[in-house]
Amino acid sequence: ESNLEMLKNTGAILLGVIGDPIIHSKSPVMHQAALQHMGIQGSYVPLHVIPQALGDTIQAIRTLGFRGLNVTLPHKVEVMKYLDHLDETASRIGAVNTIVNDDGVLTGYNTDGIGYVRSLKDEAVADLKGKTILVIGAGGASRGIVYALAKEKPERIYIANRTVAKAAQIAEEWQDLADIQGIGMEDINDYIQGVDVLINTTSIGMHPRIDEMSIETACIPAGIVVSDLIYNPLKTRLLLESELKGCTIHGGLGMFINQGAIALEYWTGAQAPVDVMRRAVLKSMA
Ligand code: ATR
Repeated sequence: ESNLEMLKNTGAILLGVIGDPIIHSKSPVMHQAALQHMGIQGSYVPLHVIPQALGDTIQAIRTLGFRGLNVTLPHKVEVMKYLDHLDETASRIGAVNTIVNDDGVLTGYNTDGIGYVRSLKDEAVADLKGKTILVIGAGGASRGIVYALAKEKPERIYIANRTVAKAAQIAEEWQDLADIQGIGMEDINDYIQGVDVLINTTSIGMHPRIDEMSIETACIPAGIVVSDLIYNPLKTRLLLESELKGCTIHGGLGMFINQGAIALEYWTGAQAPVDVMRRAVLKSMA
């Protein structure tokens, strides 16, 4: 009997997302559509959890028998201390976005980086092997993505950040995985000519400040791949201007969909209906 058949026969499964705030999360609409399409009875609920309530909430997950949770801001780091196990990716990134509950034993995963790379490969660059990648930003989002990119055997990854020390620290931490180098924002011009893929991981350009860009597009070579983690708007100004220059562009929606799809695969053991999930999110944004 497949995992999916077993789940269908077990009765309803409980899933949810914890965050503060949580009201704007698109995860419930995305996962609810997926469960329905897969024929799995269950609910995926948004749970508003303030930092002081995090420990009690995780205990409640065990008590209520939730199969799994997504974890969003500001809990991705703090939640780790309440879990029984961390998978290697979550432990090296130092953040959890997905929890799986196996009969009260909670394991933390991080599907953000893998979700991002899956989406980038599906939509823009089939093979990252040998590519030179420039990542702008060295915050939490950047860490997850750089870790996943480093496993794709790139030629080199540059991390450019306003605070260079943060970029240098990530580079040093993951020396064993790939050739990673931290640089200052003002040094981007010295390196950009050899770059194949440029990725913005900062929130610069996100709604409502849609006129801002983390990098001037004048210095971006025509024809490279330009990717932005932001999905509101679906095309940031960085992507719009890069597209006009003849670059291949890749927005953040695919990362959001794929991090959710991988989480759902961990919870159910079945393949997630990525297109159904994308349509549900797009419909809720329209
Ligand atoms: P996230 O988890 O979304 O990555 P974060 O951890 O707060 O959020 O990181 C934000 C990133 O965007 C950082 O790389 C930050 O640069 P610093 O490390 O120098 O703070 C970058 N960032 C945010 N606002 C910026 C701005 N106005 N100019 C340049 N970089 C900015």
